[in-house]
Amino acid sequence: MDNSKTLLQKKTKDNSIDYHKLNAVLDYEVKENELRLNFEYASLVIRFLTADIFRVIMAHSKQEISYKSTQAVTEHGLSYQNFKLNETESELLIKTDKLLLKISKKKFILKVLNENGELIHEDYSKYALGWKKQKVRAWKSFKENERFYGLGEKTGWLDKKGRLYEMWNHDTFFPHVTDTDPLYQSIPFLISFNQKNSYGIYFDNSYRTFFDLGSEGQDYFSFWAEGGKLDYYFFNGPSLKEVVSKYSQITGTMPLPPKWSLGYHQSRYSYYPQAEVDQLVKTFRDKEIPCDAFHFDIHYMYQYKIYTWDEDHFPDPEAMISNLKANGIKTVTIIDPGVKRDPEYKLYQEGMKNDYFCKYLDGKVFIDKVWPGKCAFPDFTQSKVRKWWAGLQKDFIDIGVKGIWNDMNEPAAFNKTDTMDVNVMHQNDGDCGTHRRFHNLYGFLEDKATYEGLKESLENERPFVLTRAGFAGIQRYSAVWTGDNRSIWDNLKLVMPMLMNMGMSGISFCGTDVGGFTGNSNGELLCRWTQLGAFVPFFRNHCESRAISQEPWSFGKNYEQIIKKYIELRYKLITHIYNLFYQASQSGIPVMRPLIMEYPDDKECENLSDQFMLRDSIMIAPVYQPDKDKRMLYLPAGKWIDFWTKQVYEGEKHLIVDAPLDTMPIFIKAGSIIPLNKKLNYIGEKEIECLELNVYLNKANKFGSYKLYDDDGISFNYENGDYNITEFEYEYTDNQLIFNINSIEENYQQEFKNYKLLFNNLNKDPLNIYVDGNEISDFDYFDNTLELTVPVVINKITIELN
Ligand code: GLC
Repeated sequence: MDNSKTLLQKKTKDNSIDYHKLNAVLDYEVKENELRLNFEYASLVIRFLTADIFRVIMAHSKQEISYKSTQAVTEHGLSYQNFKLNETESELLIKTDKLLLKISKKKFILKVLNENGELIHEDYSKYALGWKKQKVRAWKSFKENERFYGLGEKTGWLDKKGRLYEMWNHDTFFPHVTDTDPLYQSIPFLISFNQKNSYGIYFDNSYRTFFDLGSEGQDYFSFWAEGGKLDYYFFNGPSLKEVVSKYSQITGTMPLPPKWSLGYHQSRYSYYPQAEVDQLVKTFRDKEIPCDAFHFDIHYMYQYKIYTWDEDHFPDPEAMISNLKANGIKTVTIIDPGVKRDPEYKLYQEGMKNDYFCKYLDGKVFIDKVWPGKCAFPDFTQSKVRKWWAGLQKDFIDIGVKGIWNDMNEPAAFNKTDTMDVNVMHQNDGDCGTHRRFHNLYGFLEDKATYEGLKESLENERPFVLTRAGFAGIQRYSAVWTGDNRSIWDNLKLVMPMLMNMGMSGISFCGTDVGGFTGNSNGELLCRWTQLGAFVPFFRNHCESRAISQEPWSFGKNYEQIIKKYIELRYKLITHIYNLFYQASQSGIPVMRPLIMEYPDDKECENLSDQFMLRDSIMIAPVYQPDKDKRMLYLPAGKWIDFWTKQVYEGEKHLIVDAPLDTMPIFIKAGSIIPLNKKLNYIGEKEIECLELNVYLNKANKFGSYKLYDDDGISFNYENGDYNITEFEYEYTDNQLIFNINSIEENYQQEFKNYKLLFNNLNKDPLNIYVDGNEISDFDYFDNTLELTVPVVINKITIELN
């Protein structure tokens, strides 16, 4: 526990003064895609990947420039040579098709300008880059009206300015409140936003790193690492979306997950014995509450030994899993990296025999306590260990397991530092290094092994991996949940900016323990959390072993009905949500977005932390305080339609709306088209023969369109072109409404046979309706809503208006 004395002892700040800094440029050389600069005790490379992505690498003292990246960086193959170098007396000027870089020669300072000569980014005026013993550091200037986003899984507001952040994966059980730091993930990617010119910096260094965004009121911001090299990437926007998308060109995008994983997941620490699991599935199905996955926490194992089953609790796991499968429930099992030190345990034997475990330089295997007692830890930096680990998935897949939940992979250990001794060595296929270097990559490499193993064993099915720890690029292998939160209202509030920033840091598939992990939830909190959770990319209810039950029915009928309504809504939206996941997998731009991403010119949105959007059309304003039946919210410019009442609101306004416990405010941007499907108990339960397309009309929006991606939701066949893309578009004028359906790609036998079109807020009576030129009379018109059903093969609907 901290107390006043702690103030004296805490010394997290790092003094800039005693660093060696880059000084005068002695000479330079241009080679292919890079400029190399030499200094008295250092050298620097600026390497161009595209006209507006470049990489900066520094070597100091006697080091050589090293191009080696962490495992976060993909083999992107990007290289750009088309730049021109000019020199003036004081500066080197490098011009690409998009940027102008100015380097002052007397003292190295880099400025980045865009093609209009506007300054986008600049190093701090006093010093730019430096080193102190093993530390490396960069100093940068603040910009006017600047906001900071990104940095992955961090607490606090949407705008990260003004605080010091640490990147060191940590099992943080104490409450996650506004200034709790660090948590489980390290994503050293920072976005500097301003309305005109946003840019991003990815610091490719897996050592313990820090980002100080003005914690002491200083006139610069800075990032540094305790070891390794200064190696960062600069991504020019100018828009926030472009920054995020360019970052994903380097660290990868989320692969398209299996569709079932977008459904509702039920978990607790832990469901056992089998009778409890059987009862759980029965209750879900009896009550018709949709659910797609159960998570088995550590009690399914024998003595917490991974890849075992406790026979007393689960005498026949295969039969149980197959019963779950028959009920549409997929089985996800937890796996911790610690392998119990037990000479009679196969995995321990294999690890010891084959030299798979992390050890000290003198050859002693690192052993520490986790759930099973003393454990050894696989050295995931070695490809042979990842291969072994990947192979371990097979037995589980063979009995029907569909997903792996990687926990405690910071790695957590029950000692004073909460993790592995930093002096432990990792082999890293010959390029060894201590745990200080690999700590932040430990979970990432475990997830990579797991993903690859699942992919192999599942044959043509898409893997589902969930992880607690991770590093930049984790989206390529795993979904992420935010660890051990609490069943308190403050945590519910924290979820929104945290997940929005994770999304902007490349992690589209993220979520939080719905209902809260530690402590007892309650009916009201669970309702509000489920409402939010239904719109968050990863949707799982999970709680701790000592906590009271928090399944949807745990707090009585009234709460149950509300919770059910929102889980059902998630399933009604599943076609849309899957489509958004497809788009995120293509572009890297997240599914769950801060409003500023869609409304970059609106200052009100810059630090708007308690509302979010699903892509560009649905705006969610969760209630995150107890005893509230109203919610104040902000609507950006344009017209907005209340999802529940269809009432139209004018934007650029704050509103107070009714939000009784069964209502979470949801607003649809006028002009949007949103598909809704019928109620499902689980994904794939039945064919969705008729897809409802809700068109949210408004006179102010003459045109609207929506592109729908669709495939089998489970296999990799889409990689060979087995998918459909259909574009819906409309034109809405005073006297007619034209709706077009264009098939752009059509290689997959889709389940939809018909579209039920709902033209909401049609302000004039329909006179005549033509489908592909033929007049029809089979339609309904009520409450300003025109409803008609058409076969998917038609192309054009013309509605003449009165
Ligand atoms: C960790 C996980 C939690 C899990 C528990 C037991 O605390 O974060 O989700 O339930 O371990 O495995």
